[in-house]
Amino acid sequence: MIVLKNERDQDCMRAAGAIAATVLDEVCTFVAPGVTTKDIDAFAASRIKHHGARSAFLGYRKYPCHLCISVNEEVVHGLANQRRVQFGDIVSLDVGVYYHGLIGDTARTVAVGGCSPLAQKLMAVTERALYEGIAQAVSGNRVQDISRAIQQYVEANGFSVVREFVGHGVGRTMHEDPQVPNYVDGKKSARLRPGMTLAIEPMVNAGSAAVRVLNDGWTVVSQDGLPSAHFEHTVLITEAEPEILTCCDRIASVLRAS
Ligand code: MF3
Ligand code: CO
Ligand code: CO
Repeated sequence: MIVLKNERDQDCMRAAGAIAATVLDEVCTFVAPGVTTKDIDAFAASRIKHHGARSAFLGYRKYPCHLCISVNEEVVHGLANQRRVQFGDIVSLDVGVYYHGLIGDTARTVAVGGCSPLAQKLMAVTERALYEGIAQAVSGNRVQDISRAIQQYVEANGFSVVREFVGHGVGRTMHEDPQVPNYVDGKKSARLRPGMTLAIEPMVNAGSAAVRVLNDGWTVVSQDGLPSAHFEHTVLITEAEPEILTCCDRIASVLRAS
């Protein structure tokens, strides 16, 4: 069942989205050579609290961290530990927060200082694939139009989309209908309507699409050990252009209104 959000819920999602985006920005500036992923988690926890929100991930299916931190060949759901990130690593950061009962969910991959040309291209293609998907997130299209745009852009650039994890509806719970795959699965998909809120989130591997889960039960890695990138926005379907809710440029005004 797809939950349409009324005006009031949309305002709360703008606020949750603005906070998630702001925390993600803050976390990205904190990431530097020598910082442990535990340090990053603690910093994110303090920023989420500072903004009056709560992590949507901590405790979700017993997930033990405040955000997901996935390094290099780690795709998603990486756990914070004593690992120190190094110059040349790429780090995927995924932030989800509850604010007034609604969720904002957003992710980005950043280089620690600098990275290889391959990783650079991987990040650029994944980010652009997200926007190719968002461009299709208009009323009257189907979910599959988003999926197709992402897959085509990624594959035209020689990379692969992960199949086992997908985007999703988001609102009062983190994973709502519909699923938003980053590839065309051939199933009939839902038509997009104003008031729908979707987390669109391509996960892109530099090599093959195959992934596996480590023994910690969470960390998803590429099977071939090549790097992976992840970009995500929470988006509101409107009568006109899609509205990206996980934007931090207007945090002051949306917080005032919420
Ligand atoms: N943020 C992820 C997503 O985009 C979900 C993380 S689940 C957690 O859907 F348990 F790892 F937090
Ligand atoms: Co996320
Ligand atoms: Co998500």
